[in-house]
Amino acid sequence: MATTTWTRRHILSLADFTVAEYETVLQTAASFREVLSRRTKKVPALQGQVVANLFFEPSTRTRSSFELAAKRLSADILNFSTGTSSLTKGETILDTAKTYLAMGADIMVIRHQHSGVPQAIALEMDRLESGVSILNAGDGQHQHPSQALLDLFTLTSLLDTDNPRLELLSGKKIAIVGDILHSRVARSNIYSLTAAGAQVHLAGPPTLLPKLFLEILDGEQKDKLYLHWEIEPALKDAHFVMTLRLQKERMSANLLPSLREYHQRYGITRECLELCQPEVKILHPGPVNRGVELSSDLMDDPRLSLISQQVTSGVAVRMALLYLIGSSK
Ligand code: NCD
Repeated sequence: MATTTWTRRHILSLADFTVAEYETVLQTAASFREVLSRRTKKVPALQGQVVANLFFEPSTRTRSSFELAAKRLSADILNFSTGTSSLTKGETILDTAKTYLAMGADIMVIRHQHSGVPQAIALEMDRLESGVSILNAGDGQHQHPSQALLDLFTLTSLLDTDNPRLELLSGKKIAIVGDILHSRVARSNIYSLTAAGAQVHLAGPPTLLPKLFLEILDGEQKDKLYLHWEIEPALKDAHFVMTLRLQKERMSANLLPSLREYHQRYGITRECLELCQPEVKILHPGPVNRGVELSSDLMDDPRLSLISQQVTSGVAVRMALLYLIGSSK
């Protein structure tokens, strides 16, 4: 296991992640990938610790991935979902979190449809001097750190399986295409990919890609981010293309003429990939609207799509995150 001086208690956003922290996550995830390839895919690292999975919004892969990661680390895991909880009886989110604290939760993995909820719970846990760690598993349109870290691990592992590290992405062109406005995945990836030295090209219709995205980064990082309202300049010579789901549940108005027109202009097809590097690979955080942001045949083409690798990477990366915050206690 990577020797580390990890000090961060909560993982809420990648905005202030340091290069050393990214590298530690990548190395630790690589060690856990090795564990996951063994016959006995389990280590006692978090034995006796309680991980509470508090998902206030639907999720398939993130939730299952955190659950499996916690189990592989031998933690005890508590699962919560809104529909069957006391929230339906009027309990507040903070009171729900305090209930899990009283049961002895050490780490809370939190997903919520509103931005800032994991942060609010982290503040309350700190105020109570509880020592509990909060891991943001996606909050509103704000951040989704574990997704961007698994994307980073997938990309760097593809370039050097044994030694995934940031510099492998230096100078690589990465297009992020689609509904950027509503995407916490895009917001987290903008930080991690530019920290690795990649050139990040955002592309989408103006209604889903406001110019203010250029203001996300400051200092030298700013020069690594580009914005396009057409996909061609973003795809030209790109090494990787990250497509995003049209997040209709987060749209407050009809921001698009029609799905057919959206697919024609911004959907990733075999034809438009000809603009990219010959070795181009596609990523998508899932779930995919087949035939909308990504043509169905591309999604299923293992020579082009990294979607299953992203899901597989997710378990090793989430083991790394739980381990790092769990063992820094
Ligand atoms: C993403 C999410 O929930 O933000 N999915 C995921 O976690 N794998 C992206 C999305 O919902 O489109």
